[in-house]
Amino acid sequence: RSVQSAVSRTSSHLTRRGYATEPVPERKVAILGAAGGIGQPLSLLMKLNPLVSTLSLYDIAGTPGVAADVSHINSRSEVTGYAGEEELGKALEGADVVIIPAGVPRKPGMTRDDLFNINAGIVKSLATAISKYCPHALVNMISNPVNSTVPIAAEVFKKAGTYDEKRLFGVTTLDVVRAKTFYAGKAKVPVAEVNVPVVGGHAGVTILPLFSQATPQANLDDDVIKALTTRTQDGGTEVVTAKAGKGSATLSMAYAGAIFADACLKGLNGVPDVIECSYVQSNLISELPFFASKVRIGKNGVEEILGLGSLSDFEQQGLENLKAELKSSIEKGIKFASQ
Ligand code: NAI
Repeated sequence: RSVQSAVSRTSSHLTRRGYATEPVPERKVAILGAAGGIGQPLSLLMKLNPLVSTLSLYDIAGTPGVAADVSHINSRSEVTGYAGEEELGKALEGADVVIIPAGVPRKPGMTRDDLFNINAGIVKSLATAISKYCPHALVNMISNPVNSTVPIAAEVFKKAGTYDEKRLFGVTTLDVVRAKTFYAGKAKVPVAEVNVPVVGGHAGVTILPLFSQATPQANLDDDVIKALTTRTQDGGTEVVTAKAGKGSATLSMAYAGAIFADACLKGLNGVPDVIECSYVQSNLISELPFFASKVRIGKNGVEEILGLGSLSDFEQQGLENLKAELKSSIEKGIKFASQ
């Protein structure tokens, strides 16, 4: 029987809760920044996920309302809202997965790096709390610039003595979601069947979609591949421009964040062969300490970092071109965290 049917069976027979023949493990998911543009739809999507038993919604303000609203949905998880720093510990205690979409988004004309000064501080303080209250949680970092915020969190955890590189993930799933959608449109294949790895990092040229490995295969011309690559790299800016000052991607990001968190939960629950692209500590791919690639997620977090596979000349060139920017973003994060 599927997990879903086991869950609906228990929740429709409340008195039998806990007696399902196939118990679904209890899992607590905390969302930090839950009242924001990404946080709210992400809270909704995580409330719909039957693998979640406790949903903890934290923000500096506004979470009691979001939590009350989402909690009325008749799905498995118990929802609690926590507002303000004094409630952060309770929000995090016992969390298996912590998703972080806290911080300011881009406005037209801004790069992700322009967010650094504000978001770096937010991430540093949230990571400090994670190291104290739920040091074993899988951390899903959404806050930009991801290329720097992941190294910041790593440094904070190292200082606290809680760092486990297998448990820290930069969420690059939206790049994959975009690459799949844009590829399907050009290749004229059903979008639901499409797979495209996206590697490197999560900003501009550091986003490197590997369309040569896209499935189902399609023989797209070089100029089409080039245009698809640029569109994937600029996908975030496309949304920022269209929203004209009202923020960046929130709905598609919430979807992508929910997909990635679901993969983490499945991995923790022992589902085999859970593979997603993510920006993680990595020494397999390049000389850089962090790199996005396909990773296998299991009970301990990152179980395996998969190689890049064979690249086209265009992708090989893209790989060389992204290293300088990625390196400086990583160094900027490390330097900030050590101050
Ligand atoms: P938003 O401004 O709508 O929401 C951010 C939320 O974070 C607000 O509710 C705010 O109160 C909260 N917040 C601020 N400081 C906090 C703290 N110390 N602790 C907890 N919460 C705090 O912004 P939006 O659109 O939701 O974006 C959030 C972040 O996600 C931005 O950094 C954005 O750049 C990033 N992002 C990442 C993407 C990715 O692919 N990884 C894609 C799109 C956005």
